[in-house]
Amino acid sequence: MCGIIGYIGQKNVTEVLLNGLRKLEYRGYDSAGVALLEDNGIEVVKCKGRLAILEEKLTGNCFGGRIGIGHTRWATHGEPNDSNSHPHLSNSEKIAVVHNGIIENYLQIKEFLVSKGYRFYSETDSEVVSNLIEYNYRGDLIAAVTETLNDIEGSYALGVVCTDCPQQFVAARKDSPLIVGLGKGENFIASDIPALLAYTREVYILEDREVVRVSSESVEIFNLLGERVEHEIFHVDWDVAAAEKGGFEHFMIKEISEEPHAMQQTLWPRLQGGEVVLENSEALLAAVADCHRINIVACGTAYHAGVVGKYLIEKLVRVPVEVDVASEFRYRDPLVEPGQLTIIISQSGETLDTLMAMREAKRKGSRTLAVVNVVGSSIAREADDVLYTWAGPEIAVASTKAYNTQLAALYLLTLAFARAKGLLDTASYLAYQEELRLLPDRVAEVLAQKDAIQKFAAAHFNAKSVFFIGRGLDYALALEASLKLKEIAYIHSEAYAGGELKHGTIALIEPGTLVVCPLTQEALFDKMLSNIREVKARGAVVLAITPAKYAAAVAQTADAVLTIPDMDSLFSSAAAVTPLQLFAYYVSLMRGNDVDKPRNLAKSVTVE
Ligand code: F6R
Repeated sequence: MCGIIGYIGQKNVTEVLLNGLRKLEYRGYDSAGVALLEDNGIEVVKCKGRLAILEEKLTGNCFGGRIGIGHTRWATHGEPNDSNSHPHLSNSEKIAVVHNGIIENYLQIKEFLVSKGYRFYSETDSEVVSNLIEYNYRGDLIAAVTETLNDIEGSYALGVVCTDCPQQFVAARKDSPLIVGLGKGENFIASDIPALLAYTREVYILEDREVVRVSSESVEIFNLLGERVEHEIFHVDWDVAAAEKGGFEHFMIKEISEEPHAMQQTLWPRLQGGEVVLENSEALLAAVADCHRINIVACGTAYHAGVVGKYLIEKLVRVPVEVDVASEFRYRDPLVEPGQLTIIISQSGETLDTLMAMREAKRKGSRTLAVVNVVGSSIAREADDVLYTWAGPEIAVASTKAYNTQLAALYLLTLAFARAKGLLDTASYLAYQEELRLLPDRVAEVLAQKDAIQKFAAAHFNAKSVFFIGRGLDYALALEASLKLKEIAYIHSEAYAGGELKHGTIALIEPGTLVVCPLTQEALFDKMLSNIREVKARGAVVLAITPAKYAAAVAQTADAVLTIPDMDSLFSSAAAVTPLQLFAYYVSLMRGNDVDKPRNLAKSVTVE
């Protein structure tokens, strides 16, 4: 949420900043801007709207400086307009700042600065930072930044340039991600790795409350007491192509197509010699053997993966599982205590509410296990145990392959936990592992039905409202399918437990209403079929998703049927979600929406 980039070196600064911002635009696209340190001062170019508008504005300008910072914004304080765009200059135009995060005490700071004669030109919280740094500046930029950070409450990743410092810039972070990229005769800062991949694979991952002085030849890191801090260099071994569209029209369709491969990466290395082998898991599994309650905490799509996790773990591990959205969990004084395990699920590993919820669980003595995609992210670093999902970079704002791999990780954990509890006999343990080994191919089979899904989308892309209903694991799936449609197609949609609809919501079903029904749970098949009949009787048009062996029976009731391969229904969610992701994708496309960058959204939600 908001992307920042900074560069010092001999390359064309504007070009490096724009290249970086292109890779960070998924973090926010309300406005974009750069500040370039020139011989005669700081040149700020910024504007409301997508990065392409900024690029156009910058075309034909020849800036010759060696230092610059850039920003792509997801608006929190103040509407998206030119003056609320970053970078923000201080009153004397000596200092410019880009900021990701929220300054919680900005009103007090603003009042203080106004009393000192400062004027403000935006509605943002961020503008107080440039002015407070200027107020604290007495010839030493890093000292002024450090003093300012000691006065600030809230979260920040910052890039700061100053007209007095033509050989360096300063950056800092707390609760918002920031990395430093290391080059030869050049250095960088960025919110995320893809922004730097074209230039370097050697990075420092900054910790909270660290400030860094970046010159072309050196990078010095300090804590807020002004003491030097040493970091190990982190080598990024991603394939550059993984963060590119690679011939696909959108990142979203590329990422859906990558699901079989991503799931292989999650599953196969951990299915070895008839065992589920999780990295460094001895202490974790010993703790699980005695564990009396598991909490699962996450946001959005990751939360929906958590709902699947609850069904699975309670079924096979027989431990009560509480699943909660992180923004609720962290503020409700949750009943967490030693002896419990808290599983935190996050693609980015930087979602602020999720990170804070994890800290709350830790503070109360729970062991924490992070199911995370991004290596080295804050959640991965702070959790007691980590299970990486290995989905590769996910760039589209709507999460797809990350969700499937989160499910895959939860499948592995469920089997390992059940075994650790002594609840799974060897024959079932082996049979489940074989199911998991086959899962990527099953998802690949589902992908082959793209054309049928596209056709169905073409018939329904003008729907005003869509319902998703399911029972058991299919209810968890309905939640995710409904979110996907809302966020990229902008169609009102509801997800309901099949048996709950008749307690009120069925009043909304009228002739022609589209109701999508995953129907994969063998034990609930007849019950769900009755729920389908109930909505059909009110005129609904029903799309069912079901294993091939049930297709003929379901077709007698539903208007259209998509099939998934026949498989153990415990793991069917990972195959049944794919057609629903594709459905949302095609509907969004047909409505003319920006599939990868849906309105009002951004990826990696680093504000609460
Ligand atoms: C929806 C989506 C979001 C994220 C949520 C959590 O498609 O992407 O709902 O799932 O913001 O993000 P992470 O997993 O990065 O913590």
